[in-house]
Amino acid sequence: MNLTLKSAHEHPIPFLADLMTRSFEGYLVPIHITEAVMHTMIRRDGIDLTASRVLMRDDEVIGLAMIARRGWTSRLAAMGITSNARSGGVGTWAMGQLIEEAKARGEKEMYLEVIEQNTAGVKLYEKIGFKKIRRLVGYKLENPPVESDVEIEEIDIREVARQVTYHGMKDLPWQLSGTSIMQHTPPSRAFRLNDAYCLITNPEATDVAISSVLVKARSRGAGLSAVLMRALFAKFPGKVWHVSPIYPEEMGFIFEHVGMERESLSQWQMSRAL
Ligand SMILES: CC(C)(COP(=O)(O)OP(=O)(O)OC[C@H]1O[C@@H](n2cnc3c(N)ncnc32)[C@H](O)[C@@H]1OP(=O)(O)O)[C@@H](O)C(=O)NCCC(=O)NCCS
Repeated sequence: MNLTLKSAHEHPIPFLADLMTRSFEGYLVPIHITEAVMHTMIRRDGIDLTASRVLMRDDEVIGLAMIARRGWTSRLAAMGITSNARSGGVGTWAMGQLIEEAKARGEKEMYLEVIEQNTAGVKLYEKIGFKKIRRLVGYKLENPPVESDVEIEEIDIREVARQVTYHGMKDLPWQLSGTSIMQHTPPSRAFRLNDAYCLITNPEATDVAISSVLVKARSRGAGLSAVLMRALFAKFPGKVWHVSPIYPEEMGFIFEHVGMERESLSQWQMSRAL
């Protein structure tokens, strides 16, 4: 048995999308990656296909590792092994290779997020030297019965991204960083109330996700984010509101404040010095 890695950029996007779907078969949350979803992941999260790898066992394709890169830092954006090849050491071998490749590229740190309940994933990453930074949590709220007469201003998504870059936590999870937020585009929309900012996915859909919330430091502690979120719930009534489990647990109170319920799945944000 001979394990090798091939550069992902040598493969067409539909092939990579299908391979990612197959590599996440039986996952804790159903994963179906279409060609369009794959393009959005690559653009939004800064995935570098020349550094991403298709895993081979002899001539058989058995997995995929997507690597995102920004300056000295990289992120394991996705890692999956087809079910017939799991639990045999392939993941451990592949991670060792990916770490060596990142070092050879001159990077200094690698980040990842793993679902806390994913025993094999957490074991693998800890074994390879990743340390937990913090727990990441998500929330949900169905059809909040809220009235609000607060006027909110619609702004360019780029403005939210700029504010997150200047005023947000410096080690925010990759997908919440200003650099990632900058890549969001309509039909997502951004709103502002004084020093509070919020980015949401298409509010015409039944399910709407809160993709970013920020209050400038000088205005924190006054409940401004709750006023802004309640104004959004009132502006777009009858929705199911979601916060995906990529928010630092220490930020969770802002969602609890508006009555959102914590999702059972949580993640670990992890990093490894290179
Ligand atoms: C997570 C995944 C990449 C691990 O790859 P793998 O080749 O199965 O991992 P390995 O065989 O190298 O095992 C790594 C560690 O996990 C443990 N492990 C493997 N399968 C396990 C299982 N089903 N349950 C519990 N632990 C398991 C192993 O015991 C090993 O630790 P050890 O060597 O100290 O005993 C693979 O299972 C997978 O693709 N799963 C679906 C997608 C996914 O979860 N991706 C990670 C998202 S961040």
